[in-house]
Amino acid sequence: MGVMVIMGKGWFFRWVMMIGVMGWCVAGLGVNWGTQATHQLRADTVVEMLKDNGIQKVKLFDADESSMSALSGSGIEVMVAIPNNQLAEMNDYDRALQWVKKNVTRYNFRGGVNIKYVAVGNEPFLKSYNGSFLNITLPALQNIQNALNDAGLGDSIKATVPLNADVYESPPNSPVPSAGIFRPDISDLMTQIVQFLAKNKAPFTVNIYPFLSLYGNDNFPFDYAFFDGVANPIIDNGVSYTNVFDANFDTLVSALKKVGYGNMPVLVGEVGWPTDGDKNANVGNAFRFYNGLLPRLAMNKGTPLRPGFIEVYLFGLIDEDAKNIAPGNFERHWGIFGYDGKPKFPMDLSGKGQKKVLVGAQNVHYLEPNWCMFNPDAQDLSKLADNINYACTLADCTALGYGSSCNNLDANGNASYAFNMYYQTQDQNYMACNFEGLARLTTSNISTPTCNFIVQINPSLSSSLRPQIVAFLFVTLLPFILFL
Ligand SMILES: *[C@@H]1O[C@H](CO)[C@@H](O)[C@H](O)[C@H]1NC(C)=O
Ligand SMILES: *[C@@H]1O[C@H](CO)[C@@H](O)[C@H](O)[C@H]1NC(C)=O
Ligand SMILES: *[C@@H]1O[C@H](CO)[C@@H](O)[C@H](O)[C@H]1NC(C)=O
Ligand SMILES: *[C@@H]1O[C@H](CO)[C@@H](O)[C@H](O)[C@H]1NC(C)=O
Ligand SMILES: *[C@@H]1O[C@H](CO)[C@@H](O)[C@H](O)[C@H]1NC(C)=O
Repeated sequence: MGVMVIMGKGWFFRWVMMIGVMGWCVAGLGVNWGTQATHQLRADTVVEMLKDNGIQKVKLFDADESSMSALSGSGIEVMVAIPNNQLAEMNDYDRALQWVKKNVTRYNFRGGVNIKYVAVGNEPFLKSYNGSFLNITLPALQNIQNALNDAGLGDSIKATVPLNADVYESPPNSPVPSAGIFRPDISDLMTQIVQFLAKNKAPFTVNIYPFLSLYGNDNFPFDYAFFDGVANPIIDNGVSYTNVFDANFDTLVSALKKVGYGNMPVLVGEVGWPTDGDKNANVGNAFRFYNGLLPRLAMNKGTPLRPGFIEVYLFGLIDEDAKNIAPGNFERHWGIFGYDGKPKFPMDLSGKGQKKVLVGAQNVHYLEPNWCMFNPDAQDLSKLADNINYACTLADCTALGYGSSCNNLDANGNASYAFNMYYQTQDQNYMACNFEGLARLTTSNISTPTCNFIVQINPSLSSSLRPQIVAFLFVTLLPFILFL
């Protein structure tokens, strides 16, 4: 009897939750969950965030055990990944078999992880990698898909390679989407990859970044990076392109068509807008970008060459303060949530364009409200620059740069910002707030209206076990426990 009552309640709540979820998020929308942060939210906290916001798909950059166990039983669809530095190993078929056994098959049970794709590498053909992965990506893709097939999983789990949009282009003499071709230096390789994907009914995955079009080029028409119209659209065979996302996507569709696969399914593995670290990276532009993108996805508008549903993964979920900033300072600010799981700007994932705010991470524990600042009584300032440099080499000072949120601080403010970031990164160890006598501790919040002097999270305590849910379960289960 007791069991029946509990079951009944469970089903009822799940049903109510599902109806709620369906209204919250563009159907089929995914997000990228990267974990290159010095202080990470707990994996179960993150999975709870995904659920609270109705996000049903997630793309990972590895197959990390803690993320995978947190995703177990959630029903969330997962793309697991093999990082570029493991591609060479995957050229050995036995090694690929092991990878699939350990990181896919192991989770493939009722209540396990709902794995849908394996990403083989991450943008391996970026020009900046100097061709390091050119020879090893296709064999790794083949081995992983074949290993999935041999494990009996190939019908439901597909291997794909998330590629940077610079694997294709329009020739300079015909800069329109319909003229799209694969980059001449890798066009044979791309053709072989496309053929292999097609044979296995796997999708092509591409990352498209309108922000980077703007970042690389001051002559780029600003409005063309967004979705609310431009004065001079690009006209291509009578089709009018008003945003670079559509133009870019259709350049790929044209390139696929030229090699005989014009109907190959295409996933957008990453798309998004950063909020700091560049003059165009701010919450205003990010809001504008998503406020254009999400309604189009919700309406299944597609692109001129591919009207209809497009599977899209936003980049990214949470800021990552340990990411490599070689591409630019903005790299650490792609999150739709900040480092602590707080939403940064209004965002309506349902695509209905309502003034909504995402549900932030629950029950996050912070370190104490302590900050490290420049010591105004310091006498000898000759070593100040060296000390700031040291702090910024080991902690994230990207918000200090030109056009960024903390660029308007004075010289002392700059020093305080750097010192505090280092101190927080070191978990507020008091020895990390000395800097040869140039720094001191403070308990007052030294943030300015535009520049947040953060207090880090306490990862060991940041749990998603919400007291109210625990209490609810306890009360619900109590009669059952007593009954036993
Ligand atoms: C499984 O994935 C993890 C995380 O990406 C990786 O470190 C490990 O090498 C993989 N296991 C095997 C057996 O390949
Ligand atoms: C690629 O080559 C450039 C110039 O030779 C070099 O600076 C860079 O470090 C190389 N990158 C990689 C990933 O090897
Ligand atoms: C890839 O293979 C080609 C042809 O075998 C070879 O010339 C080239 O050096 C290889 N590139 C790398 C990075 O190993
Ligand atoms: C503060 O630091 C930023 C970034 O390093 C620099 O651009 C700015 O000029 C500095 N401001 C002062 C007043 O030194
Ligand atoms: C410090 O102040 C800033 C700006 O008012 C605020 O956003 C932040 O939450 C405060 N930090 C703490 C730990 O109270």
